[in-house]
Amino acid sequence: MSSRYAVILAAGQGTRMKSKLYKVLHQVCGRAMVDHVLTQVEAAGLDQIVTIVGHGAEAVEDLLGDRSEYAFQEEQLGTGHAVLQTEKIIGDKEGMTLVVSGDTPLLTAKTFEKLFAYHQAKGAKATVLTAKADDPTGYGRIIRNDIGIVEKIVEQKDATKEEAAVKEMNTGVYCFDNATLFNALHQVTNHNAQGEYYLTDVMEIVKAAGGIIAAYQMPNFSESLGVNDRVALAKATQIMQERINTQHMRDGVTLIDPATTHIDIDVKIAPDTIVEGEVNLKGHTEIGSDCYIGSLSELVDAKLHDHVHVTSSTVEEAEMMSHSDIGPNSHLRPKAVIGEEAHIGNFCEIKNATIGARTKVGHLTYVGDATLGTDINVGCGVVFVNYDGVQKFHTNVGDHSFIGSNSNLIAPLDLAQHSFVAAGSTITDDIPEHAMAIARARQVNKNDYWQKLPLAHDQNWL
Ligand code: UD1
Ligand code: CA
Repeated sequence: MSSRYAVILAAGQGTRMKSKLYKVLHQVCGRAMVDHVLTQVEAAGLDQIVTIVGHGAEAVEDLLGDRSEYAFQEEQLGTGHAVLQTEKIIGDKEGMTLVVSGDTPLLTAKTFEKLFAYHQAKGAKATVLTAKADDPTGYGRIIRNDIGIVEKIVEQKDATKEEAAVKEMNTGVYCFDNATLFNALHQVTNHNAQGEYYLTDVMEIVKAAGGIIAAYQMPNFSESLGVNDRVALAKATQIMQERINTQHMRDGVTLIDPATTHIDIDVKIAPDTIVEGEVNLKGHTEIGSDCYIGSLSELVDAKLHDHVHVTSSTVEEAEMMSHSDIGPNSHLRPKAVIGEEAHIGNFCEIKNATIGARTKVGHLTYVGDATLGTDINVGCGVVFVNYDGVQKFHTNVGDHSFIGSNSNLIAPLDLAQHSFVAAGSTITDDIPEHAMAIARARQVNKNDYWQKLPLAHDQNWL
């Protein structure tokens, strides 16, 4: 097989996005658009990939790293000019070159493969990937002659009325004979409505020189959606989301209301887990089997083992072991690890803390910078006081301990196993095994206090 190269166009600013962020870095379901494109190009198994960067070059290179080589386009003079910047890298190579835009995040490796196959079957020098759009506004139009042979691609802004009426659009993906491509690119001019060097003009130039040009029309327009503004970004996200959610359902996950379930592309979910509507699963979240994720939960880079139950809670960069549960309305922050069968109830916040197996933190509690053993009961409204305004300190609580409600545990602190804290205590010293600590003012009853009140002598009041 002859060598295959890919060029990804990613140098534009993306003016129509009206954004500080460069267009191709905008995310669709948790991954930058240009990363989606590169991932699919990689899956097509090419020999060399070059990404053209300009605006935001450093940010794009940081993101993609050594997965691609880079060509720099200093001024954005058009898509044809952009591809020409790769000449130093692949200009003298023999083979086929796939060109794809960094703003078409929905295209798949399968489609690239089909394009290569069609290009070869037609013996073409240049093949464009097309689709039929109900509304082709903004896209280049594919102009065919009376017998359906492709003649050229015309940009919307340069189109006559008849040309603009054509529904077949240019997806911005092409396959070229590499030598033919660079030869033609040198002949492209910027005599058009936008004063740009259009890559699309290569088609007509190749044809005029006697080369075969072809157009492969894909069946599904939505895959070719180009994102130029935020409206298209939302549309792309919706389509990608549907694709991701469908795959999870096919893999055995129940989504109660897939239309309102937002799952990033890198999230993994094992079969027989149930996810209710209005749930966000983000980043590299991993969920085991037989879990239940209730409405209004948000999981970010979370790891849940099997049989975990989450009720309208937030879990970020935290881990929950099997048969543990949380919520409603609780928050696991980074480095919280919840042990097997442990229970985190309502309105609790847990940060950088390990909670042992079967331990219960049921209500209105903050646990920060702590190691809790197994089978502990933490009462209601307990505060692990971990911060003195300058430094953070750690608290250890041994197995089978009991922390009474409304206690403050002022770190650094060691509570031995089987220790007790009486409710309402402010604990500042370590507690030995089997001891109970009470640290609060002793109760005094002022008997007959009532008699001291003027009210007590007011006949009207009594
Ligand atoms: C382009 C096509 C159009 C096609 C559409 C598909 C041309 C002239 N037009 O239009 O026929 O229907 O894509 O989505 O090619 N870029 C650079 N350097 C530049 C200009 C652009 O790297 O000088 C990059 C952009 O970052 C973007 C891609 O090329 O990723 C496409 O550019 P864009 O301006 O979005 O082209 P469209 O107007 O969408
Ligand atoms: Ca575009």
